[in-house]
Amino acid sequence: MKPFFSYYGSKYRLSQNGFYPPPAEGNIVIESFAGSACYSVFHEPEIAILIDSNPKIIGIWNYLIKATAEQIEALPTFNTIAEQRDFKRIMAKLLQAERDLIGFWTAKARPQSSKAFGVWARKYANAKTCRVWGDAVKLRIISQLPKIRGWRATCSDYHNQQFYQFPYFTKMSKTYFIDPPYSGAGGRKYPHNKIDYEHLEHWVKTLKGQVICCENEDLTHRWADFDKTKPSQYASNQTKQELCYLRGFQNKAAVKQYVAISKQRLENIDQDNQS
Ligand SMILES: C[S@@+](CC[C@H](N)C(=O)[O-])C[C@H]1O[C@@H](n2cnc3c(N)ncnc32)[C@H](O)[C@@H]1O
Repeated sequence: MKPFFSYYGSKYRLSQNGFYPPPAEGNIVIESFAGSACYSVFHEPEIAILIDSNPKIIGIWNYLIKATAEQIEALPTFNTIAEQRDFKRIMAKLLQAERDLIGFWTAKARPQSSKAFGVWARKYANAKTCRVWGDAVKLRIISQLPKIRGWRATCSDYHNQQFYQFPYFTKMSKTYFIDPPYSGAGGRKYPHNKIDYEHLEHWVKTLKGQVICCENEDLTHRWADFDKTKPSQYASNQTKQELCYLRGFQNKAAVKQYVAISKQRLENIDQDNQS
């Protein structure tokens, strides 16, 4: 699948180019700092558990998980200048989750949903691709809805024990994707950004199964052993070097192979972008 909405700090491209290994087959994927949940979106597990402390993010996911094609089809688009001028009045008639979903598509990679149809959105309003909210995005979402029916989303702190002890949950093998706001300056852009990284470090050690932790080179807290990680230059497309810590991925040869593949893929993508 492709992203359901554009989000600051999304891990879609890094998932796509293999910087993170895929979950073991049949694993439930848990994103404890879900945002746009792009690791799950790319790998398409049957069951994903999405946790985020921002109610707006979880509101969007709960809306999408249950949405019908007709509901998405009926959402307004803003192709004409008159519709764009009327943006606020049209949006006021929608559900909160619909407003937030559309708002993430009217600006690029923001930590918060936008309340305006700004210059950037107007520039690409009639593009046939999924740059900005419009018919192409609606079609993408509609085509992907069947794949997220088994997902669950909850608004909570990442360590909410009550949630992690659901019976169906304890029995399944798990892959945890742990992508909190970065401990350096980049993480402060999220409305919810206060993380006790010492607590997080302790909590991560208690997780059983496959674990992927994300940070970048500006980190102020070494809350996982990021030194023993895949070399960060494989994410050189990022403005800041990405770090990732892996645990529980048994097949070391396969992990090594992933590093090589991801490097090759990145080079290909960069070449494509230049041509
Ligand atoms: C780096 S973003 C995750 C990006 C995600 N991997 C993606 O692909 O879009 C971090 C997320 O953590 C959420 N967050 C912040 N504090 C949290 C907490 N204490 N518990 C759970 N989520 C939290 C933020 O709202 C934000 O959506």
